[in-house]
Amino acid sequence: MKIDGKSYKTIWFEKNLVKIIDQTKLPHQFLIKDLKTVKDAINAIKSMEVRGAPLIGATAAYGLVLSIIEKNDLSYLKKSSEELIASRPTAINLKWAVERMMKKLTGMNEADILKIALEEAKAITEEDIKFCKYIGLNGLKIIEKIANKKKNIVNILTHCNAGWLATIDWGTATSPIYHAHQKGIKVHVWVDETRPRNQGANLTSYELNEEGISNTVITDNAGGILMQRGQVDLCIVGTDRTLSNGDVCNKIGTYLKALAAKENNVPFYVALPSSTIDWKTKDHKQIPIEERDSEELSHVEGVDKDNKISKVRIYPKNSKAMNLAFDVTPAKFVTGLITEKGVCEASEKGLKDLFK
Ligand code: MRU
Repeated sequence: MKIDGKSYKTIWFEKNLVKIIDQTKLPHQFLIKDLKTVKDAINAIKSMEVRGAPLIGATAAYGLVLSIIEKNDLSYLKKSSEELIASRPTAINLKWAVERMMKKLTGMNEADILKIALEEAKAITEEDIKFCKYIGLNGLKIIEKIANKKKNIVNILTHCNAGWLATIDWGTATSPIYHAHQKGIKVHVWVDETRPRNQGANLTSYELNEEGISNTVITDNAGGILMQRGQVDLCIVGTDRTLSNGDVCNKIGTYLKALAAKENNVPFYVALPSSTIDWKTKDHKQIPIEERDSEELSHVEGVDKDNKISKVRIYPKNSKAMNLAFDVTPAKFVTGLITEKGVCEASEKGLKDLFK
């Protein structure tokens, strides 16, 4: 998608370097950063210079490429793969991408391993772009149906950033919106601010602005009243891990939005590529929920009057804080899952029928 009218992907490989867009600086500064070592890739994931389930998976895949460039040695590669998997625990795409790479690389001879690693990392990114495009085309049908019935602007609420910045291109939750916009359907997006890191306000609103899509940032608590007032036609969110029974783990606050949607008969869809499905974990209580530094709550970052990025504390120094990054929305509150293969019910049967 575009920034300043120029098309970008969120990650690419150039002259033995991995290039990323530093998302901690957006929307105030657009900065392309070089990752030179596997440590750089791990730090970029941990510090959320790259974030969003599919993108951290792709970064981990390229992290293994960097690990081979540094030291072409199997035990170093194994250590790198373990450190990458541990860098953020909730999004399953990270583990999925590392395991896919390791399966391909284990047993490879030293002469070929770099070439194979690069090809596989590239395949992971290209596949994600294709899957996100199909998620868009499948989700478009849902928006089209509402638009045909309503004959007016379709209001869509989204949480966090499940846009192209969270993937390689297109996004998951935003892909149907981009496709609808490109088809001339009038859409407006309610963008949940998404405290504490404000991925909605900082990233979703930014990327929608760059594509010329009408959007309004709202506080995380505003969705309920907007739904009561009939100002939300549809919710679409992303996910970091969806279980085979249809339970959806996503950015903290998603669950409350799904409850409000159910109460107000607003369809609540979750958009995901198959790399986000966790086929093994049976109980959502077994999902490792990342707990992040309380400084994300106690401080906010923005630009001051001199356009300089600065950080300020917003509550007493001695107050305790808890910063859970994700929650789980039970399948019964999810209207449907929008995947690259089609839209299905959020259930074991729904997923199995699509992904035989
Ligand atoms: O903590 P983040 O910013 O990595 O969380 C991102 C989300 O929760 C997204 O909704 C999810 O990864 C889906 S991205 C297509």
